[in-house]
Amino acid sequence: MGKYIINGGKKLCGTVDIQGSKNSAVAILIATLVTDGDTVISNLPDITDVDNCLKILSYYGCRIWRESPTCVKINTDDIRNRAMPCNLIKKIRASSYLMGALLSRFGYCELPESGGCNFGARPVDMHINAMISLGATLRSGGKSLECRSGLTGNTVVFPSKTVGGTINAIIAAVKAKGTTVIVNAAREPHIKDLSLYLNSCGAEIYGAGSDRIVIYGKNKLTGSLHTLDYDMIEAGTYMIYGLVTEGKIYCRNAPIGEMQSFFSTLKNFGASITVCNSSVKTEGKHLKACDVITEPFPGFPTDLQPLITVLSGVSEGQGTISETIFSSRFGYATELQKSGLRFDLSERKLTVTGISGYRPGVMSATDLRGGAALIAAALNAGGRSEILNADYIRRGYSDIEKKLSQLGADIEYQP
Ligand code: EPZ
Repeated sequence: MGKYIINGGKKLCGTVDIQGSKNSAVAILIATLVTDGDTVISNLPDITDVDNCLKILSYYGCRIWRESPTCVKINTDDIRNRAMPCNLIKKIRASSYLMGALLSRFGYCELPESGGCNFGARPVDMHINAMISLGATLRSGGKSLECRSGLTGNTVVFPSKTVGGTINAIIAAVKAKGTTVIVNAAREPHIKDLSLYLNSCGAEIYGAGSDRIVIYGKNKLTGSLHTLDYDMIEAGTYMIYGLVTEGKIYCRNAPIGEMQSFFSTLKNFGASITVCNSSVKTEGKHLKACDVITEPFPGFPTDLQPLITVLSGVSEGQGTISETIFSSRFGYATELQKSGLRFDLSERKLTVTGISGYRPGVMSATDLRGGAALIAAALNAGGRSEILNADYIRRGYSDIEKKLSQLGADIEYQP
């Protein structure tokens, strides 16, 4: 699983080029399965979740040309339905989108036993109910979905916000017969990005990014060229790296419009935000911890919850971090305790008491964003730290050791 060795205590300064959005990439890659012909995707992040998505597409018969680490061409003319590749499916959460894609294309799919970060239960009941709303039937004792006569447009109502469920419903509905209305849709930016791609293939999707999406089903979609949106979570991560090292990092191409809730939280801590051209920088010393609550977009993103916890840990006073999206997303805090984090945890609320600085330690990443948070503590700590299970982090952050080294960090990856 590899490890990072970090000699921290250095100010990070300079410019980092923000990658294409991981969560856009995995949704759009799976969505190519409902299109015909060639799709070219650029601004692709060079991360292992993308590699695993491409392996899944190849397994189903897609022909793939990796033009560069950030550009891929996919042809779907020879795809065929097959038994789920369990070993690949378990590696990523986005494999759940195969439900919508395979049902749309072949009228049948086994229920994917998707993977993804371990935040407690991650059911797909709302995904399945969306497919049933569109005419699919559960078969084989609930282990597969079938719709041999093809999906039919309908109203899909989500009882609570689900990003993946919304994505799955869009992928399933774009070629369903008739009109689909998705009610209480998630509004995350990568849902808009997915809809931009599918509309460029001939789909007719309206309202993506709002909580009501209307889709007029089409008979055929043809692959297209698409440049991915930038990754707001990676940008937020590097902004936190700048603050915990009291440095100055410009995040070039950060999707500023999507990050307003995160920016206002940093300002509440006392940090300044400066936008110049297509870059954003934050600076601040002697920050004061405040209360943070994660919410569905456009609220504070749950994926930056571990990072704001690390910042709280070295800010003055006491702050709370309330996690409202996932049932247990604080696994990283116990690891951070090895580096000096002081916290109390009750239910889904972490109360953090600020310390002057982290101490070096050996910590194990428990998931993607939790691992990125451990790096933040190690960058702040003066001395040698090790971050084990580093491959979790490489799932979602491209070239992280190279980017951090260019900012002045002393970091090495050992396989
Ligand atoms: C997506 O996960 C992202 N993953 C996550 O990012 C992100 O944290 C999450 O959305 C919330 O923004 C990808 O886009 C690949 P949900 P997803 O469905 O789709 C419950 C990262 O670090 N739920 O919005 O799985 C669920 O358990 C990753 O990039 C059901 O109960 O999130 C959770 O409590 C981590 N039944 C809540 O809803 C369902 O059928 C929100 O989950 C589906 C979800």
